[in-house]
Amino acid sequence: PVQREPLTREILELKRRLNAVILAHNYQVPEIQDLADFVGDSLGLSQQAARTRADVIVFCGVRFMAETAKILNPDKLVILPDMDAGCSLEESCPADQLAALQRTNPNFYTIAYINCSAAVKALSDVICTSGNAEKIVRAAPADRDLLFVPDENLGQWVMERTGRPMTLWRGNCYAHVEFRRESLLRLKARHPRARVVVHPESLREVRDLADVICSTEQMIHWCKASPDREFIIVTESGILHRLRKECPDKVFHCAPAFDVNRMPSDACRCSECKYMKLNTLEKLRDCMRRLYPRIELPRDLIERARKPIERMLEITA
Ligand code: 13P
Ligand code: SF4
Repeated sequence: PVQREPLTREILELKRRLNAVILAHNYQVPEIQDLADFVGDSLGLSQQAARTRADVIVFCGVRFMAETAKILNPDKLVILPDMDAGCSLEESCPADQLAALQRTNPNFYTIAYINCSAAVKALSDVICTSGNAEKIVRAAPADRDLLFVPDENLGQWVMERTGRPMTLWRGNCYAHVEFRRESLLRLKARHPRARVVVHPESLREVRDLADVICSTEQMIHWCKASPDREFIIVTESGILHRLRKECPDKVFHCAPAFDVNRMPSDACRCSECKYMKLNTLEKLRDCMRRLYPRIELPRDLIERARKPIERMLEITA
């Protein structure tokens, strides 16, 4: 829209002056996605962060993602539009509680989903994302007892895929567990030809209805390559922007979020992550003007958290 243009121009000018790169997650609002240098899933974003030559990384996503970029680039400035952009998975797993559980079994091999704090990463053997979780679990040493934190649903799904038993931390993504079988079945009945595309952070009752279960980036590739023309997308609704842009001839429905106040409900309230949606163009411009808020982590924590991230990147390469 015309009234956004001065703002967009200023952001692009700041980017040039700072020699900055703007990385954005697939759940960001459309106007942020449209001016980012790279838009992707957690795996793609960490791969981009690992290889960037920019002096400043502007991270439009949530805090744990910006922290990952900082851990991979300790000497670069990493800024984000809103420091309050947390994550319910990160919150569910305090590092001291994880350390206490690890002490109960010295044979644990800890696999941490990237949606966790730097302190939890530092306690882990390897990191994974939804895009590589199966590969990471298959690569884990056969003689160790696997401990998967903090997403119970992703962990369950990977266990089903690999047949490898794991102890699961009981965290979840508050936005994905809103999807329920009943409301998805009703939407499917209205669109019988639509294929169902589900994020693995969803509950098993929802995953059981899926044609494909994958990361946000893989959703885009799968829908593009599919001969079908209609899809129900079971993840945060920010992804619909790229899907509609990159597959203009296809139809996408967002899965209804469970609404406790109006249950049983199949009203099309799309699921939004309140943390991802804290970022706006204005806040993006402001953080680039002020170079604040910025990620600052102790050096020794960065060193410890970097090893399991690098292990993930090596296994995924
Ligand atoms: P991916 O984009 O890596 O699939 O992750 C989804 C998510 O919930 C990130 O917080
Ligand atoms: Fe965390 Fe869920 Fe939001 Fe992703 S969508 S940042 S997992 S709360």
